[in-house]
Amino acid sequence: MILDIPVPDDWHVHLRDDEMLAAVVDHSAAWFRFALVMPNLTPPIASVAHAIEYHERIVAAVGIDAPAFSPLMTLYLTPAVTPAEVRAAADSGVIGGIKFYPAGATTNSDAGGTSLRDFMPALEAMAEARMPLLVHAESTDPALDIFDREAAFLESEVGPLLAQMPELSVTVEHISTSTGIEMVKQFDQAWGSITPHHLSCERSDILANGLRPELYCKPVINSAEHRRALVAAATSGNPKFFLGTDSAPHPLSQKEARVAKAGIFNAPYGLHVTAEVFHQAGALDQLAAFTSSNGAIRYGRSPSKDCLRLERLDEPGTDPADLLTTASGQQVRLFGVAEAARWTLTRL
Ligand code: DOR
Ligand code: ZN
Repeated sequence: MILDIPVPDDWHVHLRDDEMLAAVVDHSAAWFRFALVMPNLTPPIASVAHAIEYHERIVAAVGIDAPAFSPLMTLYLTPAVTPAEVRAAADSGVIGGIKFYPAGATTNSDAGGTSLRDFMPALEAMAEARMPLLVHAESTDPALDIFDREAAFLESEVGPLLAQMPELSVTVEHISTSTGIEMVKQFDQAWGSITPHHLSCERSDILANGLRPELYCKPVINSAEHRRALVAAATSGNPKFFLGTDSAPHPLSQKEARVAKAGIFNAPYGLHVTAEVFHQAGALDQLAAFTSSNGAIRYGRSPSKDCLRLERLDEPGTDPADLLTTASGQQVRLFGVAEAARWTLTRL
């Protein structure tokens, strides 16, 4: 089975910096055209000047011949992102969105906020400048069960904001529940990114057959029922849903530690995993919409004119690499090895 699709875009990726950036960036450049790069470095990327410097470091780190690879930057929504900074971001041409993190919800989120309501002047400037708001939707209320925290944040924060500001466009990032899917469908100005791991895994996969820290991410992978809602939305062809891998590398020493960091490194094999999900759902005819056009159109671009060929092997080949090694010898575990043995990808 062979399928050609326009070169995909990754509308949510963590490329890190320095040694880790150098080790991972080619895996995004190999398969993707646009990459919307998350700003949760330390310190966070919260000014246009820093975003432009980071953009230059990313471009300089690409080691393969990947002429189509275009990183788009994001700003981290902090009090430093004033209405003037929002306007400068919109004028810069390299900034695709501004990201809200609930403080404490995930990796390097301490600079985030407690409520979207605390950022109204910036949000109003974003609506005016047509700058997308990207939301990590997850409550940090310790009294709430971890599997209920996305729905709680959507209901208390994102829904009211969408109702109040119809002119502000919002991407609900890495949707992990049916609540997220329904909210995106409900509001005209809402979109949703969905990851390969939330499409392919359920919480039992993390816990049932030995603890698998490589499947730990935020928002946590949820129940089978929620996964079915994500697959139905992604494979439906609904233009509001698109791929954002949320590829988030952590060294093994921090990932398989007593307290494991949240994040799944899926840039190398995330497309293989996504293709297998669509194959299993009998929906390969909708794959290109999800990986290569819906997100592009949401972010004001045309789908790529170049193509990626995907081939599903009748028998899986030998397992490809499952570890990446950085320059100083740190290792990072790759997600999707089994799917990568099933699919071959070729840039045409
Ligand atoms: O699992 C995650 N890892 N979720 C996030 O929101 C952040 C990311 C990271 O940067 O490691
Ligand atoms: Zn992320």
